[in-house]
Amino acid sequence: MSYVFVTRRVPGRAVELLREAGHGVDVWDGEMPPGSDILRERLLEADAALTLVTDPVGPDLLAAAPRLRVVANMAVGYDNIDADAAAAAGVWATNTPGVLHETTADLAFALLLAAARNVVLGDRDTRDGGWRTWSPTAFLGHDPFGATLGIVGLGEIGRAVARRARGFGMTVLAATRTPRPGVERELGVEGVSLTELLERSDFVTLHVPYGPETEHLMGPAEFAAMKETAILVNTARGGVVDQDALVEALRTGAIGGAALDVTVPEPLPLDHPLYEFPNVVITPHIGSGSHATRARMAEMAAENIIAVLAGEEPPNPVNRPPNPRSA
Ligand code: GLV
Repeated sequence: MSYVFVTRRVPGRAVELLREAGHGVDVWDGEMPPGSDILRERLLEADAALTLVTDPVGPDLLAAAPRLRVVANMAVGYDNIDADAAAAAGVWATNTPGVLHETTADLAFALLLAAARNVVLGDRDTRDGGWRTWSPTAFLGHDPFGATLGIVGLGEIGRAVARRARGFGMTVLAATRTPRPGVERELGVEGVSLTELLERSDFVTLHVPYGPETEHLMGPAEFAAMKETAILVNTARGGVVDQDALVEALRTGAIGGAALDVTVPEPLPLDHPLYEFPNVVITPHIGSGSHATRARMAEMAAENIIAVLAGEEPPNPVNRPPNPRSA
């Protein structure tokens, strides 16, 4: 019998699917991720791992996992996995594309609206007893309706955000690494350079994967190019933003605010300066966090494992081992 280690309790039928396929399943029961020692110990015996973005899978761990055939990440991003090292070791790495873009686009929009209209500040104020009368001047924000939205990265999530922006009468600009005129035309989006996007947008939302090419894509020069009233939304990965530069931009008023679902590190320590700004909204990496989507993500990760353990190619590989390990 093959043995699958699942690194946290996951929603939906994922564990059932694995068991129905005849595999032994061990689910880590802690609220916190298994530490690296535990992960190493469990992977010593495991044929497959269902991992989360909180589980770093690097060459050392792979070297200590002689039976491992697949690491199935329950996420579309897989920067926690060294996919090349996995391929070299004969281990498939997989992700969950196509199921979380609408949910994540919803959160990007929720953050945009929350920051633009002071939703979180207003909520805090009512709870603190600050709501004494209707005020003509309190909590004034900026209108998303009719504003210019800059989308950085036009993958599945960026495109889903663009579709939502139409309903808000927004002018939508997009900066992409490779020009995508067909996609831009279809979405009614204007393709521009990153600099032009930053200069013209009232809201800038990031939808690129994290990696060497996108690390600190938003740095001092980029914040300086933004409008002083503009709001940055990040539901991608914390490392896409140079956080020190963001703090500085907020401190000097170079930008109007930020709404972040992702930070470096996660969780963001409570003494971090980003918490000091009233015009910053921070959520705990919940972009894909709807009941239905998280269940589907876990099931998709299980399906990838089931395929590999049956000797097939997984449906959602992010690497291609030249010599996949076999049973
Ligand atoms: C979550 O962050 C994901 O990449 O799916």
